[in-house]
Amino acid sequence: MLRQLLLERIRDRGPMPFDEFMHAALYDPDHGFFTSGPLRSVAGGDFLTSPEVSPLFGATLARFLDAEAERVGADPVTVVEVGSGSGSLLRALVDELERGVDVWAVEVSPAARRRLESRVPEATAVDSLGDVPGPVRGVVFANELLDNLPAAVAVRRGDSWEERLVSAAGDELVPVSGPARGEVVEWAAAHGGPVPEGGFVEVQLAAGAWLRRALRLIEAGSVVVADYGDSAEGLASRRPEGTIRTYHAHHLGPDPLADPGTVDMTMDVNFSALEEVAREAGARVSVVRQADFLNRWGLDGRIEGMREQERRLAADGDAMERLKLRSEITNAETLLHPRGLGDFRVLVAEVG
Ligand SMILES: C[S@@+](CC[C@H](N)C(=O)[O-])C[C@H]1O[C@@H](n2cnc3c(N)ncnc32)[C@H](O)[C@@H]1O
Repeated sequence: MLRQLLLERIRDRGPMPFDEFMHAALYDPDHGFFTSGPLRSVAGGDFLTSPEVSPLFGATLARFLDAEAERVGADPVTVVEVGSGSGSLLRALVDELERGVDVWAVEVSPAARRRLESRVPEATAVDSLGDVPGPVRGVVFANELLDNLPAAVAVRRGDSWEERLVSAAGDELVPVSGPARGEVVEWAAAHGGPVPEGGFVEVQLAAGAWLRRALRLIEAGSVVVADYGDSAEGLASRRPEGTIRTYHAHHLGPDPLADPGTVDMTMDVNFSALEEVAREAGARVSVVRQADFLNRWGLDGRIEGMREQERRLAADGDAMERLKLRSEITNAETLLHPRGLGDFRVLVAEVG
């Protein structure tokens, strides 16, 4: 359906830049993957995220939020989660916190907002960051949000760049190349890192704009972004193919142009570019692996405590209780897995 609409648009106006295509695929009001249809980030959905894997993700972030509240003297402290999905992160975080908290959930998906309203009634659910009143003293969290923000695609040609566009051939959407827009060339040259001839750079202008906007909202506190991705250098080996891909029912999905609106479309986040945005905005910024971040805020200690309890249950406890605990430990360990969620990056940009 969306494919037909895009084909018509392209026939009328000519090929569209990839970011415009991706925006339609994810956010078209009637047919976008996130803006129409069911809740996506649940066990039966299309992807499984850290807060869905274990409540200890949100509970560990609560320790960070507590420390930020102390640091900036915020009481109550404000927490804003952007792209809050089913509310799993906020539920676990609010349950763990022992202080007054003003909770905001920003979600473009009407299905997710409905779920949030029943699961986290403490939260005010809105559909845009612009609806959160500032200035905020507290923390803005975004877990697996920035990988979805529409990117243009620059293609290396000699010592210059072309831009990947989406065109129409009969009933198919097809990739073509065209002259690159100025801001696309500028971003690719600044943040692309080493790119071989014909290699692809996802030009993440929208992710940078999002971070700038989130930082502007905060008077004192921080923005925390967790996602898959790497530094510009770390992404170099992925440049020949580029990193844009689709997900459907927990598996890699079809070609992004095949059936827009029906699949998640995502890419690796360029954390070097985000670091620069944060620094230019005057923030103190760090980027670490998710495992290091969570352990810094006590997850390894909590898991060790659970293992100790499991040993006691093994000696003289209830078998069912022990099995339940074992499964909770396994889920918490998944958050730290060095080749999985533990290798995600966490950017903390601190102001005030
Ligand atoms: C990959 S899911 C992650 C959900 C949740 N953060 C988690 O970790 O389980 C991305 C979520 O962000 C929402 N979303 C995508 N773009 C958004 C935007 N620009 N503003 C607010 N929410 C957005 C989607 O509807 C979806 O629920």
